Amino acid sequence: MTAVIEEQGDITDDDIKSCKIVARGTSRVFKIKRAGERKHNFTALHNINLKVKAGEFISIVGPSGCGKSTFLDIMAGLSLPTSGEIYIDGRKITGPDLNRGIVLQGYALFPWRTVRKNIEYGLEVKKVPRHERRTASDKYIELVELTGFEDRYPHELSGGMKQRVAIARALAFDPEVLLMDEPFAAVDAQTRETLQDELLRIWEKTSKTIIFITHSIEEAVFLADRVVVMSMNPGAIRCLVNVNLPRPRRIRDVRNSSDFNWITGKVWNLLHGEDSGGAENDAGRAGAVSGS
Ligand SMILES: Nc1ncnc2c1ncn2[C@@H]1O[C@H](COP(=O)(O)OP(=O)(O)OP(=O)(O)O)[C@@H](O)[C@H]1O
Ligand SMILES: [Mg+2]
Repeated sequence: MTAVIEEQGDITDDDIKSCKIVARGTSRVFKIKRAGERKHNFTALHNINLKVKAGEFISIVGPSGCGKSTFLDIMAGLSLPTSGEIYIDGRKITGPDLNRGIVLQGYALFPWRTVRKNIEYGLEVKKVPRHERRTASDKYIELVELTGFEDRYPHELSGGMKQRVAIARALAFDPEVLLMDEPFAAVDAQTRETLQDELLRIWEKTSKTIIFITHSIEEAVFLADRVVVMSMNPGAIRCLVNVNLPRPRRIRDVRNSSDFNWITGKVWNLLHGEDSGGAENDAGRAGAVSGS
């Protein structure tokens, strides 16, 4: 196994054409107004440059409030950047699209729809025939272990169950790009490991491009080809860590490997500002670090 050191570099027009997702100089400034004060600008996201290849699995980690969800919302087309832009398949994002499946922080289920109807939502929009919708919802209900709860409404479910419905809904309509914001945060440890394994299995089979936000360094490293490490004030990319652990990966096998532990330690140090991202000591390891 050799270390791969990648230079992110500037974004060219060729990158925009050849990559699945490209962020170029993406910033987001919010106008904040408190009672008795004048409006002031708050920079949540500053000058993000990122290239994501088709079929790549990217994890994003960073301290709370560093702009991860803000970045994902812009990729989803749910909000626009204040400057810079994001391209998918060479086209600038201007709004939501069914080719991008989203699992947001905090479920966002339709309260008036049952579990099954929530999962079938995207398929209905795509006008998939009823029996095919049923086959797909059966498959994903089983995958997220909600068999027997098909006819429940969101308010009748636990937080972890709601989160699993949101994951099933995003997977069911088979988008090319999956944007996931802490999708496994609310599920128990055992289910989380099952869902991590299943997500990788689905990704390996379907070659989706996945952007996955998490607060768990282990989860980020286990899943990803590259981990984006963000810093805050303002929210920016500190560096990218390549994860060259062999695939297919299964959590049970990976957890005790020394390469896995070395990379998670590296990401931890980067997150805590105890490592500047230099790669000089990393030769021969399965991870490598580069600036953004
Ligand atoms: N609509 C908004 N108006 C004003 N400020 C906002 C708005 N949305 C987000 N922010 C601010 O932008 C910053 C980034 O928020 P964001 O939700 O992207 O963080 P995050 O990295 O996802 O954090 P967490 O890990 O806690 O989910 C925070 O300081 C937040 O207060
Ligand atoms: Mg967030």
